[in-house]
Amino acid sequence: MVFSCSPNRPRPTERGSGNYRRNEYPLPHACGFWRRFHGTMRAPRRRRVRMYQLARPLLFCLDAEKAHDLGLKAMELAYRTGTNPLLASRPAPLPTAFCGITLPNPVGLAAGLDKNAAHVDALAALGFGFVEVGTTTPRPQPGNPKPRLFRLPEHEAIINRLGFNNGGVDALVKNAEAARFSGVLGINIGKNKDTPNDCAVDDYIFCLERVYARASYVTVNISSPNTQGLRDLQEEETLKRFISTLRERQEQLAAQHGERKPMLLKIAPDLGESELDAIADVLLATRTDGLICTNTTIARDGVAGHAHANETGGLSGRPAFARSTAVLRGMAQRLNGRVPLIGVGGILDGTDAVAKTDAGATAVQIYSGMIYSGPALIGACVDALRARVATPA
Ligand SMILES: Cc1cc2nc3c(=O)[nH]c(=O)nc-3n(C[C@H](O)[C@H](O)[C@H](O)COP(=O)(O)O)c2cc1C
Repeated sequence: MVFSCSPNRPRPTERGSGNYRRNEYPLPHACGFWRRFHGTMRAPRRRRVRMYQLARPLLFCLDAEKAHDLGLKAMELAYRTGTNPLLASRPAPLPTAFCGITLPNPVGLAAGLDKNAAHVDALAALGFGFVEVGTTTPRPQPGNPKPRLFRLPEHEAIINRLGFNNGGVDALVKNAEAARFSGVLGINIGKNKDTPNDCAVDDYIFCLERVYARASYVTVNISSPNTQGLRDLQEEETLKRFISTLRERQEQLAAQHGERKPMLLKIAPDLGESELDAIADVLLATRTDGLICTNTTIARDGVAGHAHANETGGLSGRPAFARSTAVLRGMAQRLNGRVPLIGVGGILDGTDAVAKTDAGATAVQIYSGMIYSGPALIGACVDALRARVATPA
């Protein structure tokens, strides 16, 4: 039944599902729409790519935050009606070992797009190898006043100062538990705006305890530029105490749950060489499981003169690529294979994803690229990484 949301109806999300039988076609096919306009009942990958490219100009006419909410709703609707293969087809598997987990492919969704884990199934169905949700905080909070999200399309960039707007960790866990997704789910945790840095660790422990059972891994985010003072936690002595306390609790939780979940640290791209040295030392001393490089940047390299360039917040997308990849490469050299890395920042095509693995990442994540290139970017990155594995440098 084409319009049904029945969990028993086969979802046309698997690879090769372009060959639908007539009665299994998602909505546009069933209406004869596709055949009339394209003279074929098949929906090859090239046309699926166009679906997002058709929607993009409409979304880009709207205020960026409204477009974000509408885009997520449309994606959720596509999932529930089984029309999501028109957005992207699932890439063939490229199993990748990361922190003791096997990722079905090494291309993940970066934190921030689904702050409350409200769209996990729909996002996973696009073909991500793993999905990271959050940042979540102990208590719900509204975030910064609007407007707080800006597109810079000429640069394929975004500036945001959302400020951890989220429904609180209990709401996130409830959503995550309701999701059918059984793949790799990262949960990214932070602190409330009104929690002073002296007590920040209590907020992270509170979240770690709440998310532990549902998470495949937990990311400790101390690198958002939009919560005042948060990045100060990256300072060596503070970080050592902070991570040691969290690591201790992580091991207690592992014993309690009978299962060890990796804990990753996510850092900023705006750190100097000595700060990176110090972070590498702390990661090794505390035997932290993994590192995500990087969050958004406060620098404005490459966007000077743009109408939004002076908006306060973190810059992401293409202009963030160089700085973010340099930090990734620097950390890979310092850690020398002892701590696995995820590379994120400015991936807009498959070549960028390969550059991240060449710089030392085992897996990659995307956010801004999803806004500019759409979900087809996932498959493009997986295919490029597959080709790289087949033909090493
Ligand atoms: C609108 C927006 C919101 C974000 N929110 C979060 C967040 O809550 N937590 C986090 O760790 N990173 C957050 N990020 C950072 C991304 O996860 C990612 O690290 C960064 O954008 C660089 O990747 P990109 O260039 O592919 O966007 C956010 C990014 C954007 C654009």
